[in-house]
Amino acid sequence: MAFFKAKSKDKAGTVDLEHLPRHIAIIMDGNGRWAKKRGLPRTAGHKVGAEVFRTIATYCKDLGVEYLTVYAFSTENWKRPKEEVDTIMGLLKRYLLEAIDTMAKDNIRLRFLGDLTSLPRELQDLAAQTNAISETLNGFQANVCVNYGGRDELVNAAKAFAQDCVAGKYVPEQLREAQFEQYLSSAGLPDPDLLIRPGGEQRISNFLLWQCAYAEFVFTDTLWPDFKKEDLDAAIIEFQRRHRRYGGI
Ligand code: IPE
Ligand code: IPE
Ligand code: MG
Repeated sequence: MAFFKAKSKDKAGTVDLEHLPRHIAIIMDGNGRWAKKRGLPRTAGHKVGAEVFRTIATYCKDLGVEYLTVYAFSTENWKRPKEEVDTIMGLLKRYLLEAIDTMAKDNIRLRFLGDLTSLPRELQDLAAQTNAISETLNGFQANVCVNYGGRDELVNAAKAFAQDCVAGKYVPEQLREAQFEQYLSSAGLPDPDLLIRPGGEQRISNFLLWQCAYAEFVFTDTLWPDFKKEDLDAAIIEFQRRHRRYGGI
């Protein structure tokens, strides 16, 4: 059995590489508070948060995790000041441009979950380019949730299914869970095994409501810009101690 030495000082243990979560989801929270604590504008927290995302995504890939899904911008985050929203969109654009240059070399697939139609046109075009590149690859997959809301996703899925019924493709009575999943923006992805929320809040904030039905939750007070590989190790170790029963015994 392969073991990986965890470097975490306070959480003794090792990551068992044979029993990794196949899919990790992260609510990247705490950027604003991280910046405030340092007397910086909230946008500074988002910039560091974007760097941490790069580090943690690479680390997941190196460990052998197959899928990482991160919550970058929710359907509710439009309520924030324009300057903050613009900064987040700018960081996203930078990441997309970088990804277009490097993902084939690194064999990293990138997918966006959420309603991209209300994003700036330029971002939509860049996302289409990264999608096209992803189709040629077969490696680790990073999913970035942008303008994503679990309820919005479910309502859109219900609408699309209803339209297919009207078109005579299906009858409502025949709908099954596996078929409904095909209408979600996560279609084709396995459900997350582990959901990590840094930043101290213990809530789901409209993230992957359907998909997290049996995810193991790990909450940590560490703010996202301070999140290190060791914090990921600690969350995986915690996950590996859990007993998943799925309603059984
Ligand atoms: C998460 O950090 C990033 C986004 C929601 C876009 P926050 O910006 O929510 O940071 P806090 O929670 O205010 O500290
Ligand atoms: C959740 O964080 C959304 C993202 C991390 C993108 P929020 O900061 O928006 O969540 P609440 O408002 O604390 O629930
Ligand atoms: Mg927050």
